[in-house]
Amino acid sequence: MFQGLVRRWRRSRPAAAMDEFTFVDVGAGMGRAMLLASELPFKAVVGLELHPALARIAKKNLTVWRKAGRARAPMKMVRGDALEFAWPEGPCLAFLFNPFGETVMKRMLKALARSFRGRGGELDLLYVNNEQEWVVEVHGGFERLFLGQVQRSRADAIADYRIMANQPEGEYASSNAEDCSIWRWVGSERMRR
Ligand SMILES: C[S@@+](CC[C@H](N)C(=O)[O-])C[C@H]1O[C@@H](n2cnc3c(N)ncnc32)[C@H](O)[C@@H]1O
Repeated sequence: MFQGLVRRWRRSRPAAAMDEFTFVDVGAGMGRAMLLASELPFKAVVGLELHPALARIAKKNLTVWRKAGRARAPMKMVRGDALEFAWPEGPCLAFLFNPFGETVMKRMLKALARSFRGRGGELDLLYVNNEQEWVVEVHGGFERLFLGQVQRSRADAIADYRIMANQPEGEYASSNAEDCSIWRWVGSERMRR
C-alpha cells in the first residue's frame, strides 16, 4: 500500500526530484513506513513519535534495517511531539497514517502553515486512513491531488492479522484497501477566511 501511494505521488508532478525531498513520518510508530521510505532515493527520512516505547522500538528497527543494507536514504528518529517539530528547509513529503483526531490534526495543519509560509509547493501530504480528511479540506491551504482507495498487499494483510491477534479490545479491523489522499501545500495566501 505504501509503495502504491508513493507511485501515485511521483506521478503528481512534485516540485522537485525525489532526492531533494525529506520524507517525514508524522507519528512513526515502530517505524514501518520509515523503513519502506528509506529504500527509496529520498534525501533523508525522518520519523516523529511521541510514545517513548514505540520510538525506542523504531530506533532498533532502523538499526536492523541499516545492518541488513536495506536503507538507501539516511534515517533519523525524533522522539517528541510532531506539533513542535522544526521542519527542514527544502521540499518535504509528510506521511500521516491517521495519527491524529480532529483537534490535533487542526493544530498540526496550523503548525505546517507557519513552517511553510511563503514556500508554496514545498510540502506534500500522503494521508492514509484519512479520517480527518475534511479538516484538510476546510483548511484551504492545500490542494488535493488524489482521493481514493489504495490496494493493500499480502504483506500488509499478514502484518495486520498479527496486530489483530494481539489486540485485546478489537480496535483494529482489516480490509483489502486503504482510504487515502494526497495533498499539496499551495500557501496561506490561498486560504479561506
Ligand atoms: C497509526 S500509527 C502510524 C504508524 C506509522 N506511521 C506506520 O505507518 O507504520 C500513529 C502514531 O502516531 C503517534 N502520534 C500521535 N500523536 C502524536 C504526536 N503529537 N506527535 C508524534 N507522534 C504522535 C502515535 O503514538 C502512533 O504511534
